[in-house]
This record gives sequence, structure tokens and C-alpha cells, in this order.
Amino acid sequence: MRLRRRTLAGLAGVAAFHRPALAQAPGLRDLARIRGMTFGTAVRSEIMERDPALVALTAREAAIVVGEWEGKWDVLQPERGRFDFEPLRAVIRHAQAANQRIRGHTLLWHVAMPPWLAPALAEGPAQARAVLETHITTVLAETRAAIRDWDVVNEVIAVPPGSDNPDPTDGDLRPTPWLQALGPGYIETALRIARQADPTLRLTLNEFDLYADTRGANTKRQRLLRVVRGLLDRNCPLDAIGIQGHLQMRDPFRPEIFTAFVRSLHELGLAVLITEMDVREPDQLAPTLEARDAAVAEYATRFLQAAIDGGARTFLTWGLTDRDSWLVTDPGVARRDGQTHRGHPYDAELRPKALRAALARLFS
Ligand code: G3I
Repeated sequence: MRLRRRTLAGLAGVAAFHRPALAQAPGLRDLARIRGMTFGTAVRSEIMERDPALVALTAREAAIVVGEWEGKWDVLQPERGRFDFEPLRAVIRHAQAANQRIRGHTLLWHVAMPPWLAPALAEGPAQARAVLETHITTVLAETRAAIRDWDVVNEVIAVPPGSDNPDPTDGDLRPTPWLQALGPGYIETALRIARQADPTLRLTLNEFDLYADTRGANTKRQRLLRVVRGLLDRNCPLDAIGIQGHLQMRDPFRPEIFTAFVRSLHELGLAVLITEMDVREPDQLAPTLEARDAAVAEYATRFLQAAIDGGARTFLTWGLTDRDSWLVTDPGVARRDGQTHRGHPYDAELRPKALRAALARLFS
């Protein structure tokens, strides 16, 4: 087995820079599987429908996919009681054609809420719970055969002082319409409804800004641990923690701190997944594309190796290419110097970059 790994690693390493060879080399999904790991990525159905090259690349690289927007409330239930599963069904179709597993993202979030939802939640706790239960049970019934792991709740931990856009609270939970409508028990409520609806579904709590060696991230890690321990102390069903991994290279990173955090979640009996990794470059860019890509790969490698050392075994990037990333399209995170972030394994022309070679080495 060791010889095989080295052979595969050698293949993958060489192939990363010679595109024709890449087609024959094992994909990241194969390398990761041999190592007992899972690699995947987020997809966008509208792009998959029009870009066969990306479909082929995703099929070769990803063992698991997640819809970037198709599983959110504003798409699934745009009006009260009217569900639209077509975009998510497109994600499922592509995944099943490529023999990929599918993650669901996300049943409860305070973003991507359709206009009717916040007013409905404000009608009172009984109505709010009924709205939540109808959504979760309807979505899980529709997707039960195809999706066996859902981000049940997303981004529920209050953003501490010292972080971007801190929340005006010293509590552990973000002040969202969900907290306002249902109180601090809303997370447990959502998890219990999901477990009741589908006892064998993996229930994941997904969160961001948990990796850096900063005051804000350290506070957020402690807040998450308090919330998770509280849920588990009340025998609340919870199977996994998703650490998003939207990395910012401006942030200092000490592997041992992050490894200890991942390990502490693992020791609570929870699986830990990296669910949305991509990399935002620092304001001051390296002088060449090759140097930029090498720096991105190095930062991501330190993060992923630390996660592996802590017990993480599932890794998804938030897209495979620089071309389609929110890091390019979202004004809140796009660069303002006329450059575009190079935070993915492939560039805008679907050519492999140093990060793709780094992932191959990590999984070998
Ligand atoms: O809803 C339309 C749909 O009808 C249309 O067919 C489709 C294609 O044009 O676009 C859909 O709209 C946009 C969608 O992205 C696809 O581009 C939505 O208006 C837009 O709000 C949505 O943005 C997504 C955002 O979450 C909000 O849902 C981003 O793609 C996605 O990258 C971002 O992802 C979040 C994670 O869910 C949570 N973690 C942070 C991450 C980055 O913000």
C-alpha cells in the first residue's frame, strides 16, 4: 500500500504541471480515498448546466459535492408553503451521474431568507416553530434518498469583538431572527426536528472564522465549544461540526492551536469537516502569479495539515476554480486593486495551480 501511495503521489505531483498527464493521473477524490479521507467541493447548478469541462473536472476531483446556493431557504421555499426543489435536483442529478455523495447546505441560516420568513417568525414562537418544522421535514423528506448529511444550522455563533463585523452582544449566539423568535433553544429545536424527521441523517453545525490565531477567532472557538457542550449535555442530537475554512492570509495561523481545537471537538465524539475552504490573499500580493499561488498553497497546506492532525477526514473547497468564486463576484470580499483572488485549486481557465498539487501531496 505504501508503494502504491508513493506512486500515486508521484503521478499526482508530476501531473499537476502537465495538463495532458493530469487526465490520466488519479483525481483528488481517489488520492483522498486511499488515505481514508474524502475530498469534494461546492458546485453551482447553473454553471454545471452550461460548462461540461467543469462537470468533467468536478467528477474527477470530487467524491462529495454541496450546492452553493440550491439548498437554502430563499430557493427551496421562496413563498410560504411553496417549495422549489428544481435547482437542488440539478445538483443531485450531476452528483449521481458522477457517483458523488451530496452534502445539504443549509436548513437554518439568517442569510438567504426569503422576504416572507422574518415576518412569519415574528408572529410568535409557536408559529415560528411550525414554520421551521414544516421546512425541515419537507426538505428532508424530498432529499432523503440523495442527501445523508445536512448543515442543519449555519453561522449561529456571535461574531466577537476584534473580528470583521462583530455582533453587538457578549452572548455566545448571534442576534438573528431565529434567536429572537425562538430563544437560545432554537438550535436544539432544529436539530431535534431533523433527527425526528430522519434518524440516520448526519446532523452538522457549520461555522466560520474558527482557524486563526487572533483574539476574535479564539473567542469564537471558546463560544462554539460552550454551545456544543451545552447541546451534548442536554443529549441534543448532533453528529458533526463543519468548519468552513474561508481562509484569509492576513490572519496569523498557529497549527497547534487549530489542531487542539479540532481535537477537542473530535474528543466530544463529533466528526469534524472542513466544509468551504478557499483562500483570500493578503492586500500586498507576491510579485508573480507563481509566487502568489505558492503562497496560497503553503497557507492552505498548514491549515489542512493541522485539521488532519486534529482528526478531520473530510475536506471540501468552496468551488474548484477562481473563475466562479464568491471571492471574485461578491463585492464584500473581492479585491479592490484590479486583481482577483487565486484561492482555489484551479485558475479561471481550469488549469491546475500549486494548491491542486499541494492537495495531492496532502492526500498521499
Ligand atoms: O437564486 C438565484 C437563482 O434563481 C439563479 O438561477 C442563480 C443563477 O444565477 O443565482 C441565484 O442567486 C444567487 C446565488 O448565489 C447564485 O449565484 C443569489 O442571489 C446569491 O445570494 C447567492 O450567493 C451565495 C451566498 O452564499 C448566499 O446564499 C453565494 O453563491 C455563496 O458562495 C455564499 O456561500 C456562503 C455559504 O452559504 C456560507 N458560508 C459563507 C459563504 C460565502 O458567503
